Amino acid sequence: MFTGVFGVGPSTAKKWIERGWTSIKDAQESTDISKDWRVQWGLAFHDDLMNPVKSNEAYRFTEIIQTEAKKILPGIVVQLTGGFRRGKHQGHDIDILFTHPNGEETGFLPKLLTRLEKLNMVLCGSHESSSFHEKVLSEDFKLTARGQLDHFEKWLGICKLPKDSVSGDDAQIPLSNELEKCTEIKENIDSLDDYEPKAKKQRKCNGDNSPFTIATSERDWIARRVDFIMSPYSQYYYALVGWTGSKQFNRDLRLYSQKVLNRKLTSHGFYDFTTGKTLPANSETEVFENLNLQYQHPKNRNC
Ligand code: UTP
Ligand code: MN
Repeated sequence: MFTGVFGVGPSTAKKWIERGWTSIKDAQESTDISKDWRVQWGLAFHDDLMNPVKSNEAYRFTEIIQTEAKKILPGIVVQLTGGFRRGKHQGHDIDILFTHPNGEETGFLPKLLTRLEKLNMVLCGSHESSSFHEKVLSEDFKLTARGQLDHFEKWLGICKLPKDSVSGDDAQIPLSNELEKCTEIKENIDSLDDYEPKAKKQRKCNGDNSPFTIATSERDWIARRVDFIMSPYSQYYYALVGWTGSKQFNRDLRLYSQKVLNRKLTSHGFYDFTTGKTLPANSETEVFENLNLQYQHPKNRNC
């Protein structure tokens, strides 16, 4: 239950249990809680985040991101992944994968985040640089600090989505007016590479802008967990399979790859232990071909 709170991992959960807390409310009401800014936001917006994201919300949000992304970097590929790509009608977050066929993606995510903050769509989040290096393709994840986590540049955070995008087919595309208002900042976009998340300034979580104050104020939006992942184009189709999931489908593909083919499949590529080489893929179909498996539509990966 506690690790279901944004920002709470197994060690924080253990501490909370040791304190005798038995409900989220205990953590929310305690004045002696972790000072980690993620946890503060996670607790403040726990109710919002427990309310499942609906597919129409995820599609609309992706549309907005696509529009903004293309203004910043023409040619950028914006792909909704996770459960929604597998045709699920609801999920716990919105996972969006990016790539650029000409390799022009450096610096894109910070620019996108700066833009979304200007549009008042961001509550908090953290940006991680890529930690990819060639060894990632072949190393034994049990021996590494990151374990099975991938090494892509990413942003994990919480965004604001208008409540009217949650229900009904006739809802307006959210934030359209604000998007129009913001066209005047377009010319400055190339200088927006100094991204410093607003959340960092709010880490102390006090004063009028504390997460709890924001959460309990009257508002016409709902907080949603969002993941943005940036993949180099050469790894993109492996990243797409990995981020489409499901988790169990990935586990089975990877186990089969290791045991039967003596190859290592990750979201970064497909490594052959015998030749010491990786096999490229120029489509999702090619990922399955490389695995000697029949192509499976995302809808068939819900296992
Ligand atoms: P999610 O945890 O979002 O799963 O990760 P989901 O299937 O979309 O479930 P809901 O509907 O949001 O609850 C999406 C996919 O991305 C992979 C997971 O294994 C899953 O297949 N993933 C997640 C990674 O490859 N790396 C990560 O760091 C996180
Ligand atoms: Mn998801």
